Parts: sequence; C-alpha cells; structure tokens
Amino acid sequence: MTDLNIKKSDLVGLKGKVVVITVRVCSHSCYTTGGSSGIGLATAQLLLSLGAQVVVGDTNAPPEALHATFLKTDVRVWADQVALFNKAIETHGVIDHVFANAGVAKTTSLIDDELDSNGNLKAPDLITYNVNLIGCMYTTRLGVFHLKKNPKGGSIVVTGSACSYQGFSVVDYCTAKHGVLGLVRSVKAQLPPALNIRINCLAPEWTDTGLVKSTFFRSLDVPVQGPEVVALSAALCMADGARNGQLILSKEGKFKELEGGYMPWLVTQTGGESVSIEAALAKLQLKIKEVAEAPDAEAGAEGGV
Ligand SMILES: NC(=O)c1ccc[n+]([C@@H]2O[C@H](COP(=O)([O-])OP(=O)(O)OC[C@H]3O[C@@H](n4cnc5c(N)ncnc54)[C@H](O)[C@@H]3O)[C@@H](O)[C@H]2O)c1
Repeated sequence: MTDLNIKKSDLVGLKGKVVVITVRVCSHSCYTTGGSSGIGLATAQLLLSLGAQVVVGDTNAPPEALHATFLKTDVRVWADQVALFNKAIETHGVIDHVFANAGVAKTTSLIDDELDSNGNLKAPDLITYNVNLIGCMYTTRLGVFHLKKNPKGGSIVVTGSACSYQGFSVVDYCTAKHGVLGLVRSVKAQLPPALNIRINCLAPEWTDTGLVKSTFFRSLDVPVQGPEVVALSAALCMADGARNGQLILSKEGKFKELEGGYMPWLVTQTGGESVSIEAALAKLQLKIKEVAEAPDAEAGAEGGV
C-alpha cells in the first residue's frame, strides 16, 4: 500500500505536459456520468477549474453555474450513453478521459422474504446492479471505443468503493462494487499497451454526497470526508500517465493506492505463482490458434478458471 499526497498543484504540473487545442491545464475533454451531484459534481468543478472541458451525463441536470455540456442520460440505457459520447465528440471533437461515476444506494437485500401476489418470493430488484455495474460496463465499452480514436490514448476512471474489496452487508451495492473492481482489473489486463488507454478505480470511504448525509453520520461519530477529496483522486488518475490498474482509497481526506501491494501479497499467500492465470490464458489461446491452423493437433478448451 502506498500513501499518496495529492495536491492540486500536482495536477496542474502534469497537465501542462499534454498538447491540447487551447491553453488548458487539464488539457482534455472529459466525459463524466453521474456528474450532477456529490463526487461527480465535485470532480466536474475541479476539472473545470483546471481548464478541462467537461461533458456531463446524468439523470438530473447539474447546477446552472457549472460550465459543462450536459445531456440527460440514464446510464442503464445503452442508447443514452451512445448519444452522450456522440455529443462529446460533436462538441469537442475528441475525448481524453472518461469518468464512470453514476451510482445509487441499495435497492434489495437478497435475504428478505418479500412475496408477490401469488405468495412466491419476489424476484430481486436489480436497479443497483444496473446503475452501478452494468452502467459502468457500458461507459467503459464506449470509453475504450472512443479513446482508441484519440492518437494519444487517454484514461477511464471508475468509481468503486471501499466495499469493492471487503464484505459489507449492503449486498447489492457491495456485489456491484466488487464487480466494478473486477471490471477494472480485467479490462486493464485485456487492453494492449500500444493503445495507451489506462483504467483506474476509486475506492472512497464515507463521503458527504446525495448518497451519504454527513450530519447524520457525524452525529454517530463516523468520519465523513467531502466530495472534493474523491475528486482529487479522480483527477490524479486522469492526469498521471503512469497510473494504470490502480485502486485509490480515499478515507478521511487521505489517500492510499491498494493494488500495487495486493498482487504480490496474494501470490505469497497462495503459495507462489509459477504461471500467472493471465500467462496460462495466453498459452491456451496460442494453443487454440495452433490447433485451428493444424486440425490434427490436440485441442484445448477456452474458459474461466
Ligand atoms: N458517498 C459515498 O460515501 C460513496 C462511497 C463510495 C462510493 N461512492 C460512489 O460514488 C459515486 C457517486 O455517488 P455520490 O456519493 O456522489 O452520490 P450522489 O447521489 O451525490 O451522486 C450520484 C449521481 O449519480 C446520478 N445517477 C443516479 N442514477 C443514475 C442513472 N441511472 N443514470 C445517470 N446518472 C445517475 C445521480 O443523479 C447523481 O448525480 C457512486 O458510484 C457511489 O456508489 C460513494
């Protein structure tokens, strides 16, 4: 685990290195979902203050004072997200960074006994999965598609949670946020380095937003940070071209990168790694290719672990 000290001046310095259309410290057109409140709004404000151009997609409009392009977007709807990315391209000609941030709180527990009118157990409400995970998958897919067209590449930042890596009794939310971290890990593994597209994950702890009301939490002596803290970690992931596949925890205003230490720890805990699962998959795919080219060769099978 690495402690991070993120200052706005770090972002300014990094941004100055990138060639852009106008004199922008941030340099980029940034596309963000869930940008009308909380962490998304704070990030949009920070990016704008750095000179970025921001396109916001959200079910709710941001405050009028936010000088960003806005398109009403439900992240669960593929066509809405396609339209939002198209709007960003129409407006700015290029997309440099994508922030998949829209999220809702829990909608189902999975262990309740709610019955339908026939007395059968009701199917679970999937809203939280659809917004927090499927919406994120849509944004990532569209993000990769558009960033491939940017000769410089770019980055995708995805909002996970401190419950992306630990159990939490809010089952649907926690499952979706685990999925978000899995998405970042696997897309990072899949993206060819030559594309220069990075993907990173944020893991905020309790943050004062539309989802979490600070006055209530503070009355219970639970520390709550401001959304501008998480915004700094989002901007850092965009600005720092060396960050890829990272998981940035923000907690009580402080930051830690968690992934760098995790994999080496996991390898030692699981008895060492002679061949990583990624390397094994590459071998398997090579073998399948050989089999396809030489039909007499022994066949392998592609699948999960
Ligand atoms: N607040 C916290 O303590 C905390 C902690 C960890 C992770 N997060 C995550 O941070 C992200 C932002 O949440 P927040 O805390 O700023 O809450 P928030 O309610 O202030 O912001 C969420 C935003 O998502 C938008 N949104 C909701 N459903 C949408 C949909 N279907 N399509 C498009 N936009 C939609 C909302 O309109 C809102 O602008 C979420 O992914 C949330 O899970 C929050």
